[in-house]
Amino acid sequence: MFPVERTANPKQKPADQSKLGFGLYYTDHMFLMNYDRGRGWHSGRIVPYAPLALDPAAMCLHYGQEVFEGLKAYRGADGKIRLFRPDKNMARLNLSNDRLCIPPIDEALAVEAVKELVLADEDWIPAQDGTSLYIRPFIFAVDAHIGVRPADHLLFCVILSPVGAYYPEGLNPVKIYVEQNYVRAVKGGMGYTKTGGNYAASLKAQEEAHGQGYSQVLWLDGVERKYIEEVGTMNVFFVVGGEVVTPALQGSILGGITRASCIELLRSWGLTVTERPILLSELTGAAREGRLDEAFGSGTAAVISPIGELRCGDESVVLNGGEIGPISQRLYDELTGIQWGRRPDPFGWTVEVK
Ligand code: COI
Repeated sequence: MFPVERTANPKQKPADQSKLGFGLYYTDHMFLMNYDRGRGWHSGRIVPYAPLALDPAAMCLHYGQEVFEGLKAYRGADGKIRLFRPDKNMARLNLSNDRLCIPPIDEALAVEAVKELVLADEDWIPAQDGTSLYIRPFIFAVDAHIGVRPADHLLFCVILSPVGAYYPEGLNPVKIYVEQNYVRAVKGGMGYTKTGGNYAASLKAQEEAHGQGYSQVLWLDGVERKYIEEVGTMNVFFVVGGEVVTPALQGSILGGITRASCIELLRSWGLTVTERPILLSELTGAAREGRLDEAFGSGTAAVISPIGELRCGDESVVLNGGEIGPISQRLYDELTGIQWGRRPDPFGWTVEVK
């Protein structure tokens, strides 16, 4: 049990749960734990949510030694509060830690921290259909030092945010711009980690895509610029002539937990799922031949997000008549059914907090 310092000034909760959006509200408490070289991780605690004091020379502000995760707590109709595969998030956090020279955390302890924080702020978990409590664990370097080296002092923090759909479109298909100018990551880089720099690298392309009416960009590989990678906030799947394909994890894309869960679900339904390099030209060719049946993104924040249009240069590919496809719909229903406790959990993915 971590010590809890309860806030003396609880905040007003958002009144209308249909307008939560994503990342607009934060709860009353947060979890903090320090790392000091020689001492290790220590002093885990739950404290009132408040701004953090940082030295202006804090290394995270200059060189981006930072990693994060994203998971959710769901309030089921049965009154139970569940997390979805939190052990996978903490394992991935340690994968990111390793790449960024951040000392590993104790994964079980980090899951416990999340559970205790969620319980401390359980009144903040929204109940309306499609809403949840987004959980953001993150670690960053705090040494006041502007030389470039791995930090000796870090902070692990967890904050909570009641959320609705990530995309305003909800389950309506999003329009995606295939990025052919900028790249996000290359093999050997940090593309497989959840670190702020990967998202900073995506902003310019995202802004330009927004300017043209697209929700997000679909990244191509950084070397040949021919192979599909990911959408930055989601992994991607395509259904081509009855086969489900998704880019293989080769170091430059994120190993999504929703991605892995989709693959397991699809295979359990007897569908063929292939993880392999996918040429953009293969998809546009299949679209021209009428064999590109559907496409969707997967992610914790986005859940399942059907793709209604792919814009590749001058060519615009409309998928499934701009409607959600049957596989995307089935995956969404099954995943959210398991997460909210409406359907059985044959894989044992959910963890009850209460
Ligand atoms: C998530 O799906 O949890 C993510 O981390 C995507 C995000 C950057 C909002």
